Amino acid sequence: MTKKQHIETILAQAGNRSDDEKTGAVSTPLYFSTAYRHAGLGQSTGYDYSRETNPTRDQLQQAIAKLENGDTAFALSSGMAAIQLVFTQFKSGEEIVVSDDLYGGSFRFFDLLTDNYGLKLDLWDGQDYDRLAELTRHATTKGIWLETPSNPTMKIIDIHKTAEVAHQNGVKVIVDNTFYTPLLQQPLNEGADIVVHSATKYLSGHNDILAGAVVCKNQDDADLLDRNLTTTGAVLDPFDCWLLLRSLKTLPLRLAQHERNAKAIVLIWKRTQPLKKSCIPVTAA
Ligand SMILES: Cc1ncc(COP(=O)(O)O)c(C=O)c1O
Repeated sequence: MTKKQHIETILAQAGNRSDDEKTGAVSTPLYFSTAYRHAGLGQSTGYDYSRETNPTRDQLQQAIAKLENGDTAFALSSGMAAIQLVFTQFKSGEEIVVSDDLYGGSFRFFDLLTDNYGLKLDLWDGQDYDRLAELTRHATTKGIWLETPSNPTMKIIDIHKTAEVAHQNGVKVIVDNTFYTPLLQQPLNEGADIVVHSATKYLSGHNDILAGAVVCKNQDDADLLDRNLTTTGAVLDPFDCWLLLRSLKTLPLRLAQHERNAKAIVLIWKRTQPLKKSCIPVTAA
């Protein structure tokens, strides 16, 4: 029986010892080659052309899938490319429910989809579950898009409750998990079907990688998105895959320090606020 690893261990070991058979390298080897030679006709090594698969990207994708407890992960050239990939599964005329506080780029992309590609969007406040039940009963509603915590107002939505309502009508739940990261929230464990990241933020954490990720729970979603990504090609390049693997290892240390910094800022802010009139003790004249 294999022992369940702590998420900190999964992060620290991301991509390590993936090359035991060939060289024993501890760090993930970086493969820049775009094409791979076949030993003979029909004898692929599993790698043919790097828009489809790349050994360094495979290591990153396996690590991200494990972190989110998903079946399959895809590493993309930006968070927006990840969002776009998820939407390739929907068709003109279909309806998607989206929470009403989102990263501005997501709203801009959704406007493009409604204006040019015939998708219909319904805004939801993330609180009213009767309204959500009503929206998901429409035969054309196929997905719910959530960002929790949301950018910019840090709204929190209950993923478990949302998934319960959505799944009654076979509607998929997709969560942008950029802000919490899998260290603080694993949406697939809460009932979501697909997770998206702008890995440009906390996952990378050094302001030097633009990257995105999509994680699927079920194989049908993964097969469809794999086909669509291989076709459209916004995959993450090998060097950035390697850098992102390296960054993941320090995520727990970085998030712990972010939390300490945020608490310190709140304390300083509180101390420097002028006392409100109602708080000033009344003294005898
Ligand atoms: C919550 C969230 N999702 C997606 C994105 C888009 O990611 P990227 O800038 O990596 O394309 C951002 C960017 O700020 C974001 O904050």
